[in-house]
Amino acid sequence: MSIIKIHDKEFVPYLSAESIRNRVNELADAINNDFSGKRPLFIAILNGSFMFAADLFRCLTIESELCFIKLASYRGMKSSGKVVTSIGLEEDIFGKDIVIVEDIVDTGKTLHHFLPKLLHQQPRSLKIATLLHKPEATQFPLTLDYIGFSIPNKFVVGYGLDYDGLGRNLKEIYQLK
Ligand code: XMP
Ligand code: MG
Repeated sequence: MSIIKIHDKEFVPYLSAESIRNRVNELADAINNDFSGKRPLFIAILNGSFMFAADLFRCLTIESELCFIKLASYRGMKSSGKVVTSIGLEEDIFGKDIVIVEDIVDTGKTLHHFLPKLLHQQPRSLKIATLLHKPEATQFPLTLDYIGFSIPNKFVVGYGLDYDGLGRNLKEIYQLK
């Protein structure tokens, strides 16, 4: 792994494919344990979480369901402030055990706006699994139940995360130089 360029910016290697794989396995183990005997519905938030969701789901041994919704508050490198729902939730979540799957929790705004809408539908339980968390960026506090890596407040790309549309295909996670 070496320095890469995406659009106008340079990025340096930060989390290797192997460390991501190991951590995703550990998160899946914890979820398999915690939800043993239940049948959770995983709600993955597009676009960024598609790769994490696929790898996490592959490691699950419990009965579980998966669906995707699309929420976005980001343009380029800054949060735009507004949270837009572009693909809504079609599933009935009443009485279900829900696990939200996010690529990264940054300010917390996206989930802060979305959670009340979910809770309104009265799921039995609601947990959050996020691959990455930037604790220093928190503006909207959330309880995160499964965290892959806590990272500094620097922009990252790869493993599903993009910089203006590019970089999602990278197997590793890179940090802005
Ligand atoms: P909030 O601020 O609502 O942000 O917690 C969550 C969403 O913002 C995107 N995001 C990033 N995307 N590199 C990215 O590629 C980053 O460093 C980054 N920080 C936040 C992401 O879509 C996340 O779901
Ligand atoms: Mg996202």
